[in-house]
Amino acid sequence: MADQYAQSREDNGRTEIPAIRWDEPPEGPVLVLLDQTRLPAEEVELVCTDAPALVEAIRTLAVRGAPLLGIAGAYGVALAAARGFDVDEAARALAGARPTAVNLAVGVRRARAAYGAALSGGGDQQQAAEAALVAARALHREDAEASARMAELGLALLDELLPGGGHRVLTHCNTGALVSGGEGTAFAVALAAHRAGKLRRLWVDETRPLLQGARLTAYEAARNGMAYTLLTDNAAGSLFAAGEVDAVLIGADRIAADGSVANKVGSYPLAVLARYHHVPFIVVAPVTTVDLDTPDGASIEVEQRSSHEVTEVTAPQAAGAEAGGGIPVAPLGTQAYNPAFDVTPPELVTAIVTEEGAVSPVTAEALAELCDRSRQV
Ligand code: MRU
Repeated sequence: MADQYAQSREDNGRTEIPAIRWDEPPEGPVLVLLDQTRLPAEEVELVCTDAPALVEAIRTLAVRGAPLLGIAGAYGVALAAARGFDVDEAARALAGARPTAVNLAVGVRRARAAYGAALSGGGDQQQAAEAALVAARALHREDAEASARMAELGLALLDELLPGGGHRVLTHCNTGALVSGGEGTAFAVALAAHRAGKLRRLWVDETRPLLQGARLTAYEAARNGMAYTLLTDNAAGSLFAAGEVDAVLIGADRIAADGSVANKVGSYPLAVLARYHHVPFIVVAPVTTVDLDTPDGASIEVEQRSSHEVTEVTAPQAAGAEAGGGIPVAPLGTQAYNPAFDVTPPELVTAIVTEEGAVSPVTAEALAELCDRSRQV
């Protein structure tokens, strides 16, 4: 049985939302997550004392979103090491907890490599555990820095594409501080536009079936005082037709070498709509989301989730409802098609904004060059 427990936060009034933090109470090190399945109703922290608890939190989406999954994976390895568990077993379980967001495996690998390097350099178990923690902290910090840079570059691109200002931006899923060491990816760009007085409206797709848009993005937009409006995913078409969308900003879970973008299911239809209506479709993601080992969109493994998430609703529609137990909205025994992500081909993507710069048009060559540049830094 995974070892995790909930605790109420004492700092509900804060505007900074730490989605994840490492803590060292007298009982031993723990990883503390803001339980995203309980938002927006309650801010409750979930305390993981071992890797299986974290794996469960990842599967139920208590912790989610590509960059944060990477950070969580790295801390998970550090946790297993610090508590004297089998680090290889923990690393395998963590990396495999969700298949699509490449950042998870990248984060796990980085902390595991630091642990292994410390051991092979003559360090003892405690020193190796410390090295894994240093690596996790570094990834956490770098993600915050990348987020700030993406916000800056993304806003500059918006200004270039939409010189008039007064941006009306449509976004999908949740890409803010809840998925990041900083202020997120696509949401961070919208937030930068808001702070610059240039965001007229943030259109927030509710993001069926787990409502990351309604529960999480609306929560973050409200806390930041942004002008936002929530819509059902299938209302986006009429919004485009009415000329109410100037740009689409989304994140990514994996970007293949050819520039295909896997992101929350419903992103691809937005890209098609954007193309038809001549609206820029902009992907914002750290370089760690670009996976040159995955050649194209067809090679991206798309996570399939339980039918229950579609055939039942819970109150709130908590991501942790995977095992059922909600109110049925379909006949008993109905099978649902429930992919967590879809893949947008590069030709529908206007630009990919990373902390290392923007790629537009999106080509395999431009992405490879970007990754090369980032490795040299
Ligand atoms: O299933 P989720 O909630 O983990 O999906 C998250 C998304 O699809 C995000 O858009 C993506 O991870 C980018 S977050 C910067």
